[in-house]
Amino acid sequence: MQKGLFITFEGADGCGKTTQLNLLNDYLIKKGYKVLLTREPGGKGLGEKIREILLNYDGEVSDRCESFLFLADRAQNIDVIINPAIKQGKIVLCDRHTDSSVAYQGYGRGLDIEQIKILNNLATNGIQPDLTLVFDVDIETSMQRVGSDKDRMENSGKEFFNRVRNGYLELAKQSPDRIKVIDATKAIDKVHKNVIEIIETYL
Ligand code: TYD
Repeated sequence: MQKGLFITFEGADGCGKTTQLNLLNDYLIKKGYKVLLTREPGGKGLGEKIREILLNYDGEVSDRCESFLFLADRAQNIDVIINPAIKQGKIVLCDRHTDSSVAYQGYGRGLDIEQIKILNNLATNGIQPDLTLVFDVDIETSMQRVGSDKDRMENSGKEFFNRVRNGYLELAKQSPDRIKVIDATKAIDKVHKNVIEIIETYL
């Protein structure tokens, strides 16, 4: 049986990670692998309801409440979607996961980073990605890619996204074995080629 593998895709809004996740999915399926795609927030079912609140609620949302909603969604995603798929030997590709909480709620919003890491660990039951790809782009490019139709998170401003980006780079420095940074300013096919080069060493 194929060995389960858990890969997460990370980066600031507009970095192009979702496009790359879909390209990798096609590549792996063509090679005969069983793949499961999921995302945070909002894998499916209850997660979609939590996503709706997180991205579209237009009243006040405290930073701590925001953190717990992302974590609640994560616990559901791990228990109901990710862990069962890993156990079935699938390759799980997850669009955002624990590092998003550290980058956005920790570095971005300014909540205590060590506490976020502890809460992440509770939400995931200690399950960690085998590999995390961080798609790195400068803020000007990512803001341009996001465009003017912004959701609640995307309306957080340029300074916020600078902190998020630097947060990801800092995390990558702390965990060089798990987190690989990819230059996502390059053309889509070049970035895809980079992704494949890294993934092949894990298959
Ligand atoms: P989404 O539309 O999925 O954006 P993207 O395509 O860039 O992933 O929206 C998810 C938003 O939620 C995004 O702005 C990042 C944010 N987020 C957090 O702030 N913390 C988290 O833990 C997660 C999972 C996402």
